[in-house]
Amino acid sequence: MPKLTVEEVGSFEVPAGKRLVNALVDECGVDQLHACGGFARCTTCRVEFVAGEPTAMTKAEKDVLDAKGLSGTPGLRLSCQIACDADMTVKVVSRLAGTGRADAGKRPADAIEPPPEWV
Ligand code: FES
Repeated sequence: MPKLTVEEVGSFEVPAGKRLVNALVDECGVDQLHACGGFARCTTCRVEFVAGEPTAMTKAEKDVLDAKGLSGTPGLRLSCQIACDADMTVKVVSRLAGTGRADAGKRPADAIEPPPEWV
């Protein structure tokens, strides 16, 4: 099982292939935002990679990061568009706490949505 390390939170074994956004919530206990429900629209599921950043990216992630001017930010990725298939270390940079939102967003499905087209 891949190891997911969240800075200032801890290290956790996560099921191989699990969506990073859901692993952050389920295995790591992080109040990670995911306002659009995991559809690569809101970018609130963003994390900052410290190590193990995947080289592949979904077209949906690339498009929304480009549209919001976030593509140039080193290590910034959308956790709803990434599967845990290797050890990773991330910083959580978009949590529910302190936002005043009622909740973190609808739970993302188990599989990456929209159906991934890798670029
Ligand atoms: S972009 Fe909205 S949850 Fe990932």
